[in-house]
Amino acid sequence: MKMNSVDKQMNRGEFLRDLGMSSAALMAFYCMGTLTACSSKSDDPSPSTGGTGTTPSSGITGNANTGSGAINFKLDLTDSNFSKLKTAGQYVIVGSVIVAKIKNGSVVALSKACTHQGTDVQYRSGQDDMYCPNHGSEFSTTGAVEVGPATSPLTQYKTALSTDGNTLTVTA
Ligand code: FES
Repeated sequence: MKMNSVDKQMNRGEFLRDLGMSSAALMAFYCMGTLTACSSKSDDPSPSTGGTGTTPSSGITGNANTGSGAINFKLDLTDSNFSKLKTAGQYVIVGSVIVAKIKNGSVVALSKACTHQGTDVQYRSGQDDMYCPNHGSEFSTTGAVEVGPATSPLTQYKTALSTDGNTLTVTA
């Protein structure tokens, strides 16, 4: 079969798929070339940006899942996945943590799971609080319950911004 010039410009993924590699094999192949972008499930922070439903794969290092060791991760605020955290009123969900730049300009990090039934909370910039859309619990930006049915606070993590303002460290 004759190929035109467009057909010849097959990218690496298409090429490998054409070779019949499984998605797991493809992932292993990609990991060989980009070690920092791949990690085991246990330390995969599986971050997602609040409100957009996307899953960033860059701009984060460390552990953001409480189920597998202490929270300890860094966000690169120059990365487009997390640069929104330089703007008050914005938030992202990273693993099991919600990170928000609150009204007063500081950055807070709290466990994202509502203590009522585990739904992800959201940061509401207008109210400057954390809100659970499931049954309406409200938490302060330090995690304290303000409105039930939740009765226990969200866990608060420590945040530290580098002097250049480009790296945010979150620790237990
Ligand atoms: S799960 Fe959050 S209020 Fe019920």
